[in-house]
Amino acid sequence: MGEKGRVRLGVIGVGKMGEQHARNAWLYAAQAELVALQDLDRGRAERLAAECGSPKVFGTAESLIHSDDVDAVLIAAPDALHAELVLACIKAGKCVLCEKPLASDPKDAARVLEAETRAGVRLVSMGFQRRFDPYHVAVKEMAASGRLGTPLLWKGVHRNAKAPYNSSGPFILVNTAGHDIDSARWLLGEDVVEVSVRGLRSSDGLPEDSRDLLILQMLMTHDRLATAEIYMSSDYGYEVSAELVCQRGTALTAQPERLCLRAGSLRGSPVAPDWTAPFQEAYLAELLAWVKAVGSGTAFTGASAWDGYAAMMVSAAASNSLLEGRSVKVGLGERPELYR
Ligand SMILES: NC(=O)c1ccc[n+]([C@@H]2O[C@H](COP(=O)([O-])OP(=O)(O)OC[C@H]3O[C@@H](n4cnc5c(N)ncnc54)[C@H](O)[C@@H]3O)[C@@H](O)[C@H]2O)c1
Repeated sequence: MGEKGRVRLGVIGVGKMGEQHARNAWLYAAQAELVALQDLDRGRAERLAAECGSPKVFGTAESLIHSDDVDAVLIAAPDALHAELVLACIKAGKCVLCEKPLASDPKDAARVLEAETRAGVRLVSMGFQRRFDPYHVAVKEMAASGRLGTPLLWKGVHRNAKAPYNSSGPFILVNTAGHDIDSARWLLGEDVVEVSVRGLRSSDGLPEDSRDLLILQMLMTHDRLATAEIYMSSDYGYEVSAELVCQRGTALTAQPERLCLRAGSLRGSPVAPDWTAPFQEAYLAELLAWVKAVGSGTAFTGASAWDGYAAMMVSAAASNSLLEGRSVKVGLGERPELYR
């Protein structure tokens, strides 16, 4: 640990997401010290370092992970690198907060789970920040109060303005839908046992294999239901919502607007262009909770490697469902003792 017991933090991958985490650590995390950055684009890491207290810029992710000056690692490099980097952190005995997804395929997600289980200690945390979003937390708390009776159905909407470079259904189901799958699991407190997906390509301008509008239907452990619309080409902006339909009412993540615009015969409020502003509070709360857990050696209150693995398994089953046009069962196997 660093001065006054602060957690010495290294960030791998400082693109859009990693930069936001690094800035949050530098500006707001009193219990952390941003000591290391690494990015394939070294210039990007150096420019960010110059604005965030001059942490050391490492040439490789491995050298950062193994540095004696780094206590804990935050991974925000591209998806395909996550599993190997997390495995390296486990091997080095370091706590790691990995951006979603945990891996790019079920095999690698299972390797991470096995490695952590073998280590016998919870080192891996997942960046499913909705678990720290005040609006989602309010829905969770309302459900937990029992006032609405038993939750029966989770309904999610997840819209992005513009489809990413890869808008194929399987990519979106792993890269993007993981958030919705985790939201459903977390808010209902149950696992997904079966999934069914339909998708379409929203316009001719997209590649032939694009499925940028997806509808997921999930059957949960105790016959509860979940359904998500994931639309990557909304054009108008970024929006996420989750609603729990319960026996005696519903709870929805209603976000109070900051501005009411009146113009051109319309009254309404602006929509954010992407995820950075809507979830800033959640990213920060997640980071602070993780740093606190690492520093005090207590359990992180957010998502674990098991949650990352579960999301990956559902995403993979969802891809099969989309490609084969049928419902697909999700086999998670037995939850290891470490995650109970
Ligand atoms: N939790 C969320 O809401 C959320 C939102 C966006 C992105 N993400 C996740 O965060 C990760 C990064 O996404 P992004 O939008 O910041 O992408 P990005 O392309 O903006 O940034 C990725 C960064 O990783 C760097 N990089 C590439 N190869 C590398 C390597 N071998 N070693 C080190 N760095 C390397 C790139 O140079 C780039 O700076 C992805 O896994 C993505 O799924 C999560």
